[in-house]
Amino acid sequence: MRVPLIAGNWKMNTTVVEAIELVNEMRLRLEEVAGVDKVICPPFISLAAVRELIKGSSIKLGAQNLYFEEQGAYTGEISPLMLAELCDFVIIGHSERRQYFGENGGVVSRKVEAALGVKLKPILCIGERLEENEAGKTEEVVAEQLRSSLTGINEPDGLIVAYEPIWAIGTGRAATGEQANETIGFIRQSIARLYSESMAQGTRILYGGSVNAANAAEFISQPEIDGALVGGASLKTNEFLSIVKQAAEIRH
Ligand code: PGA
Repeated sequence: MRVPLIAGNWKMNTTVVEAIELVNEMRLRLEEVAGVDKVICPPFISLAAVRELIKGSSIKLGAQNLYFEEQGAYTGEISPLMLAELCDFVIIGHSERRQYFGENGGVVSRKVEAALGVKLKPILCIGERLEENEAGKTEEVVAEQLRSSLTGINEPDGLIVAYEPIWAIGTGRAATGEQANETIGFIRQSIARLYSESMAQGTRILYGGSVNAANAAEFISQPEIDGALVGGASLKTNEFLSIVKQAAEIRH
């Protein structure tokens, strides 16, 4: 049985003061919901402060990126070891990183490997562009992204995959539950082909892209979908809480 997971990707939003306010607003209410893994991913600069606020609670912390080298002359980068002190999870290969910062499969796989090396659980993002979707290439694209993102990695223990169709991110145009379920089922088969059936069955695969309180149930109720990676709606306490509660209810 895979425990559902709801992760909030705050992206480049909130100052440190605002992040503290937001966590204070949602902390106790999130803490009340059992049976679902709750992960918040604020900007790097707020991780230490947020960690103090959620210490001892069931809320887990994630980062939005990392660099694959351990330390050294890489001005402006954050290493796996630095994050391992603060976080349990790290988002890797988000489409915004692939699109605006030129991250390709080679970079992404090194990041996944680096995260696993310090026992951070990677939330690996994959997903097709609109043209690819319309050309019927979704499966081909996600299979290739999965393969290239995991090249050279023998045992991705703790790996989480987020299927995020790029056309659904931040657009208000979510996929349908059925579409997402089908693609996520395909991703699970691809994991079985790359590794093993038991690895595929144990890997949590999330849907992401315009998830909100009103459509969350449509995704979470699908048999292949183990939760959601939530962007915009994770910055609104009531929305995020509602998504987390729905995940807890549907999966129990
Ligand atoms: P969105 O973002 O929920 O705002 O569409 C999701 C994501 O990019 O992870």
